[in-house]
Amino acid sequence: MDKPKLAFIGGGNMAKSLIGGLIDKGFSSRCISVSDPVKRNLDQLNRKFGIATTSDNSIAAKDVDLIVLCVKPQILESVCKELQASLNQTPPAISIAAGIPLSLLMDWLGEDTPIIRCMPNTPALVQSGAAGMFANQKVDKKLRNLAEEIFDAVGLCCWLEKEEDIDLVTAVSGSGPAYFFLFMEAMEKVAIDLGLDQEISRKLIIQTVLGAAKMAAESDMNPSELRSCVTSPGGTTEKAVNAFLEGDIMGLFNKAMNKALERATEMAKEAENNTHN
Ligand SMILES: NC(=O)c1ccc[n+]([C@@H]2O[C@H](COP(=O)([O-])OP(=O)(O)OC[C@H]3O[C@@H](n4cnc5c(N)ncnc54)[C@H](OP(=O)(O)O)[C@@H]3O)[C@@H](O)[C@H]2O)c1
Repeated sequence: MDKPKLAFIGGGNMAKSLIGGLIDKGFSSRCISVSDPVKRNLDQLNRKFGIATTSDNSIAAKDVDLIVLCVKPQILESVCKELQASLNQTPPAISIAAGIPLSLLMDWLGEDTPIIRCMPNTPALVQSGAAGMFANQKVDKKLRNLAEEIFDAVGLCCWLEKEEDIDLVTAVSGSGPAYFFLFMEAMEKVAIDLGLDQEISRKLIIQTVLGAAKMAAESDMNPSELRSCVTSPGGTTEKAVNAFLEGDIMGLFNKAMNKALERATEMAKEAENNTHN
């Protein structure tokens, strides 16, 4: 696709980070437009990125190669239906709305519309996101490449084999940042209780998380092997790790991630029921 034209529908946090990532990677601002009801938001987007802005979704979506739906899940149905009603042909779309299945998106945008469902995560806001994507049968190779370009610009993305895997991605990387924030919160609390300065504790913990992630990203070893390498027999790390294992940390992860998965599946069902009522 030569210089594809993109329209972002909804100019909030996710749209801002995706647009910023694309422009940083050399995507032309002349090929991007955005629509949002809030003028202040639009002016800010125009000043920051030099992109075209409008408060009319159908103007933004007219004659583009792809629309990226960046509105909250609750208003996605009305936004999609409005686009379908006002355009002769709805452009291909990517939806990042949590819990809205392709079947509904196709109902709202048209059965023949190429649609990609994507589950990004919050570190996309700092260009370190992890996203899982699944495409309907109408999506061709060029569109897949464009979707990859968009989500690689703010981190990395993977294609999934089946749509249900989006719920798994939600439980793994979608909710995942909060799991690590919880660890950091717990470590900081204990460090302070043990007498370490709060500012120093936070700095050391953040750097430790970054360092561990970097080692895991750059090493050929799996996390279990990496853990063995930093755990000397009879040492301090072994004592701490054994305490985690005795407290059934593996069981807790199993429970927590299954709960997240259950909720993601439930949310998709709720979205379907709400539209059929
Ligand atoms: N943030 C994340 O990390 C994350 C992760 C995974 C998935 N997502 C998904 O990404 C989507 C966007 O999330 P976000 O965090 O970017 O939300 P957000 O910051 O609230 O952005 C949504 C934007 O859409 C605007 N909007 C409201 N009604 C609209 C309409 N009818 N037409 C066009 N724009 C409209 C909102 O304006 P107002 O503020 O005036 O309402 C707001 O600027 C959601 O579906 C969410 O599920 C987000």
